Amino acid sequence: MLELLSAPPVDPLWDLSAEFAADPRPERLDLVLGVYRDHTGATPVMAAVKEAEIRLADRAVSKEYRGLSGNTAFNRAMLSMVLGTDARTARATAVQTVAGTGALRLLADLVRQTRPGTTVWISDPAYVNHRPILEGAGLTVRTYGYGGGDDVMLEDLRAARRGDVVLLQGCCHNPTGADPAAETWEALAGLAEANGWVPFVDLAYHGLGDGLDADLWATRMLADRLPEVLIAVSCSKNFGLYSDRTGCAIVLGPSRQTLRHVETALQNAARVLYSMPPDHGAAVVATVLEDAGLRATWRAELDAMRGRIAANRADLVAHLEALGCPDVAASLRRQKGMFSMLPLTPEQMRRMRGQSGVYGTNAGRINIAGVCAHRIPFLAQAVAATLDSPATPPGGTAGLPATAGPRTAW
Ligand SMILES: Cc1ncc(COP(=O)(O)O)c(C=O)c1O
Repeated sequence: MLELLSAPPVDPLWDLSAEFAADPRPERLDLVLGVYRDHTGATPVMAAVKEAEIRLADRAVSKEYRGLSGNTAFNRAMLSMVLGTDARTARATAVQTVAGTGALRLLADLVRQTRPGTTVWISDPAYVNHRPILEGAGLTVRTYGYGGGDDVMLEDLRAARRGDVVLLQGCCHNPTGADPAAETWEALAGLAEANGWVPFVDLAYHGLGDGLDADLWATRMLADRLPEVLIAVSCSKNFGLYSDRTGCAIVLGPSRQTLRHVETALQNAARVLYSMPPDHGAAVVATVLEDAGLRATWRAELDAMRGRIAANRADLVAHLEALGCPDVAASLRRQKGMFSMLPLTPEQMRRMRGQSGVYGTNAGRINIAGVCAHRIPFLAQAVAATLDSPATPPGGTAGLPATAGPRTAW
């Protein structure tokens, strides 16, 4: 049977990470995946998380099933953290999911169950997994222009109709690092009100842009103005729980009766995929958020991470300016969060990999949170050298190790 399987596409980001791992050059720099690294290059367990794990281990008595919605203390804590007020949480329900990806998928399933064939609008460029998740759930995907000015986005979204769903990244847009201005968010809420589409907010980097409450402002504003909002929340980055796969699907709806149906539909969607989510990460987050001391420790750690990312970006901008790359520097200065988008072509990104061992995606995305401060001058020089060097001749690889198959601009 299995010989019938033709070669499936490989995940481009993980494929590139494998290529990085096989690169023998000691000076190489991995800026592909969205993972925070501290000044030593490590991705540490946050102190608040570690302490919560110790407390949980001490009081663990049972690993019995938690129930179809997962850890209910976690769900309450996430509702309160994301929505901020009782007035909003009273209009919402939450189900624990297998990280942000699980939340995106369960909410996509909810949309399909409610209205098969629904059109979901995603940004172009988008997080690499948005389209596959939505199409995998049987939805139709359309795109709106992004990153080339808010006007383009607003203009494209004028075509979104009643019953459509519009996927918006709540902050620190992946891959561009560019967020809409506050007045653009207000205009988006106005469009949704006028034309009857439903916002679907993806929150994966809250706390790493302008601060936790500032990063959640747009989501809360949409919740205040619209009767229905879908929200996918990831705890991977801001709690550092990448491998514990912790997240939450939140839905604001018009009545308690509707929200009960929503919760059951989300539970049913999870039941056939994995039955129930793993408890550990959710128990950790609930322990942190329910304890004033641990919560304060976590907020301070999150602020320090945000500060380090902003300092890295400012330093890179300064070095690029000093090296005579003012245009690249100016585009980076406007961005925020873990990612920056270099205005380099896929060919230039390949060339930078080959010449300097700096690994970003072909679309130009680099993980600014993945660089140690002392490597910023090296990174800036790699960018400048790429801009200075001649284009690779057709078929040439500019020193890049041979790879399987062509690469596209993701
Ligand atoms: C925009 C966005 N949404 C969702 C996710 C999913 O995160 P996870 O499933 O690891 O929680 C990511 C991960 O990189 C992301 O960048």
